[in-house]
Amino acid sequence: MLRVGFFQFHPRFGEISRNCDTVIAALAGVEADLMVLPELPFSGYYFQSREEAMDLAEDPADSQTVKRLVDLCRERDRHLVTGFTERAGKHCYNSALLIGPGGIEHTYRKLHLFNEEKHWFDPGDTPLSVQTVRGVKVGLMICFDWVFPEVARTLAVLGAEVICHPSNLVLSYCQDAMLTRCLENGVFAVTANRFGADVRPRGELTFTGQSQIAAPKGKQLHRARPDEQACVVVEIDPAAARDKHMTALNDVMADRRPAFYAPLAAE
Ligand code: ACM
Repeated sequence: MLRVGFFQFHPRFGEISRNCDTVIAALAGVEADLMVLPELPFSGYYFQSREEAMDLAEDPADSQTVKRLVDLCRERDRHLVTGFTERAGKHCYNSALLIGPGGIEHTYRKLHLFNEEKHWFDPGDTPLSVQTVRGVKVGLMICFDWVFPEVARTLAVLGAEVICHPSNLVLSYCQDAMLTRCLENGVFAVTANRFGADVRPRGELTFTGQSQIAAPKGKQLHRARPDEQACVVVEIDPAAARDKHMTALNDVMADRRPAFYAPLAAE
């Protein structure tokens, strides 16, 4: 069994250490094996420019935020997946980090940038891959990656049992779509969204909350309200993601016909 959960909150734009305080305070008393935070939860989301994103980005190797999260994971003997505004030399990525008691175990850089993110970030360059947390195979994707079913499918083909999905959703489709991603791939998914608005000089952007934990067969285990701070943990049996049968004679992984899917791999 694995205790997985999310923390849905309202990050304050640009207030990195205050947002980190909020996360640490919320997670300190929570009993869980793997927690998921929203996308870009420390910097905030609605940048004015690439320069502003760069100013608020951090190098994970030299980040007080990461150090505090590693300390938390060590003290509580747990793992955490968090969105992260990543600076890497002259590059700026919308990233997700898998952090454990010993430090960063994996970095994923968002492949499918949403709308104005294309002005702020470099497109992700990390291959999709799967990590092991307490014997469970975990895959990472970020927010708008949901609209490309290839992402969840690739993670599932690689063996992911649980998909961790930091998000800053502004459209209304994702949560229902993630139920389908879980159905068609026979996986669990934790979509950690934020709520509230980033109010900036050029306007504001409002996020939709409703963070969700979903199970194989497309079952919704929990969905938060659109506007609440919520720290939710459920116990899942990852073995449910190893049985890919839809019927006695249909296995959604074994029945695939990749020889007929070649156009999917074409540029
Ligand atoms: C999104 O990818 N933040 C919508």
